[in-house]
Amino acid sequence: MRKLLLSTVVLATSLFAVDGYEVYKKNCKVCHVEMMSKEYALKHINELSAPPMVEVSARLKENIKTTDEEDDVDRHLFILFVKDYITHPNLDYSMCNAGAIEKFGTMPPLKAKLSEAEKQAVAEWLYDRYENAQF
Ligand code: HEC
Repeated sequence: MRKLLLSTVVLATSLFAVDGYEVYKKNCKVCHVEMMSKEYALKHINELSAPPMVEVSARLKENIKTTDEEDDVDRHLFILFVKDYITHPNLDYSMCNAGAIEKFGTMPPLKAKLSEAEKQAVAEWLYDRYENAQF
């Protein structure tokens, strides 16, 4: 019985586990291109409606830095920031550079209402996806 219960729990968690990349593709990709070089982005800026995700991730990592030696604290703060920003986008605390804000305007609040698990998953994805990427 215990075994059965355990396997049911495992199955249920894997069924409901949220894939951050899927959340991105469904809710963010229309505006934020996943990967692009800086040169390409600058050349094609007029075709973009938001900064590419690789740039968003790099900029936030540049800005959200504590003196803690491990990355875990910075990653945690990054995730908290992203979850909050996509819930309440606000020019006052956007870390986008002024030129980008002028070009793109503030991010509109998301049309779809994301669950807490979806926000968490997409924020984690945004950090981890670009672990070794540069912009
Ligand atoms: C309708 C277009 C649109 C959609 C959809 C969209 N964004 Fe954005 N986003 C923007 C624009 C424009 C900006 C740049 C201006 C700003 O910082 O608000 C931006 C900026 C951001 C920033 C940077 C904030 C900063 O301080 O630099 C994050 C993080 C972000 N978006 C995450 C997401 C995530 C995650 C999703 C999907 C769940 C998403 N966005 C969906 C348009 C969009």
